[in-house]
Amino acid sequence: MLLKCLSTVSFVAAASALASTVVPPGAQGKWFDRSAALNTTGSNTDADAIFATAQTIDQKSTATGPPNQPVNDTSVTAVDGELLSPVSSTTIRRAFVPGALDRRSPEKYTLVFNGTGTGPDDRDASIRGTGYLTFTTVDNSTYNIDACLAFCDSISACVFVNLFYEHNNPDLDASNSNLKCAAFSDTHMAAEKTDSGGKQLATKPTGLTYIQQSCGYSSAILVEPETPEGYELVFGPIDGANNAPGYMGFAFLDQYDAGACAQQCSSRGADSQGGACQYFNIWRAVVDGVPTTYTCSMYFIPANASSAVNTGQGDLQVTFSRGYKRTNLVIDGGFEDFTECADFCYDTSDATWTGTSVDDGIDDATIFFYPPFAHSGNAVALLGSANGFDALAGTLTPATPLATRAGQKYSIGFFQASAFSPPEQEQPAFVDVQWNGATVQTIRPGFSNWEFFQVQVTAVGNDVLSFHGGAAPAWTFLDDITVFLA
Ligand SMILES: *[C@@H]1O[C@H](CO)[C@@H](O)[C@H](O)[C@H]1NC(C)=O
Ligand SMILES: *[C@@H]1O[C@H](CO)[C@@H](O)[C@H](O)[C@H]1NC(C)=O
Ligand SMILES: *[C@@H]1O[C@H](CO)[C@@H](O)[C@H](O)[C@H]1NC(C)=O
Ligand SMILES: *[C@@H]1O[C@H](CO)[C@@H](O)[C@H](O)[C@H]1NC(C)=O
Ligand SMILES: *[C@@H]1O[C@H](CO)[C@@H](O)[C@H](O)[C@H]1NC(C)=O
Repeated sequence: MLLKCLSTVSFVAAASALASTVVPPGAQGKWFDRSAALNTTGSNTDADAIFATAQTIDQKSTATGPPNQPVNDTSVTAVDGELLSPVSSTTIRRAFVPGALDRRSPEKYTLVFNGTGTGPDDRDASIRGTGYLTFTTVDNSTYNIDACLAFCDSISACVFVNLFYEHNNPDLDASNSNLKCAAFSDTHMAAEKTDSGGKQLATKPTGLTYIQQSCGYSSAILVEPETPEGYELVFGPIDGANNAPGYMGFAFLDQYDAGACAQQCSSRGADSQGGACQYFNIWRAVVDGVPTTYTCSMYFIPANASSAVNTGQGDLQVTFSRGYKRTNLVIDGGFEDFTECADFCYDTSDATWTGTSVDDGIDDATIFFYPPFAHSGNAVALLGSANGFDALAGTLTPATPLATRAGQKYSIGFFQASAFSPPEQEQPAFVDVQWNGATVQTIRPGFSNWEFFQVQVTAVGNDVLSFHGGAAPAWTFLDDITVFLA
């Protein structure tokens, strides 16, 4: 009762100190500046841009140059409709490391197409296709299929090999074999045998290069991806791409590489309305039956199979579509599990969040159910005495420590709004972002509508995140809090 009495006194004192009369959030007041809440209208996937770019991109390769070159890192061939020169990006981590030579397993491969023979007049062509990895030469004393399949087995991403003779190529003489074995991460068909040589590589009078007996073996249509660290598989593979809100753009990759797509998502700049990338959709574009590119679309709202409905357009088909969601270590970062009422209410804690006040502070960190206050959804957190009873800062923290891994870097993301009181009263607004009790960054937004902030931290394991701030009437609203593996 003493507490209540004190609080009433301080409320009166605080209120009389203010020139204007702000109805506090706890009394269901209104924003001074109407809340710029998340509006996802018009933010759906721009499938037309993706399809149009897929029709112009050429990321098909053949086995050229010297044999046994290391497999390149996955490279980005286009970003948001702009074609990039197909140079392997150093920012993409090596995804396909040639593994140790596995036990030979020819039984897991099936013949996709035969060669056309080795007679003096027989001519064939090698595959020019997507997902090219590297090539070797195999002992040509026989048509050495087993050695070629073993080569594929030695490369983790390999699912398909094209075995053929290439004549009049002096580059191959060093290896004493003209029998080339080219490895791919995607399966190709006889219709893609389009490189028939025709190059003058040897000195005349030796003739142009030509191809004979070009066959293809496959162990799977496409490589089975590993789930990238920091992400979880949501659906797939299916033949539909997401048409979903919160779309941030796309990249084309030269391999079906979920890890490279995850890296695009993790490193993509935040959207000012929606924040960091939280989800990606990777799929293979097949044009006229031929694998053409690997699309990586990014979103700030996690999607799922229910919106993976776009199967293609014209001669372009969507295949092998998978969705991956970035794992948020913060449970209920949007406070949407706070459902104590269906209209307007607030509390100092719920099952996943705890708000604390110091000394005789009253309601200095609270959770509100009230859609007009939220950045998205129905609920939001508030720092600063909910009813303006005091000008003390409160602390908001998850009820349980985060399931972090020691030594890993994480990115804390959140939305902040300090636009409830008039500008002069919101001027002192602040938020301390705390990691294991230590302030890692103090944000002084002044009078500010919803804005996204990101702070990098290093984990020690079971880390404690907290937000400390608010000094009524310089209230701070917080919403859509995330902690992602950086
Ligand atoms: C959301 O944005 C659309 C288009 O930008 C606009 O027409 C609509 O009124 C906005 N909705 C709200 C609730 O502000
Ligand atoms: C390859 O050739 C063999 C022998 O002529 C034949 O039996 C087989 O059906 C052919 N396979 C394909 C996929 O063309
Ligand atoms: C890897 O990329 C480099 C530079 O583009 C290229 O010269 C090399 O041939 C590529 N390696 C393979 C195996 O294709
Ligand atoms: C094997 O390859 C070498 C080098 O190109 C060539 O000289 C030789 O004639 C080939 N042997 C057979 C049996 O094709
Ligand atoms: C899938 O996404 C839709 C749209 O956001 C949502 O309504 C639905 O609950 C989601 N389904 C699952 C299983 O998460």
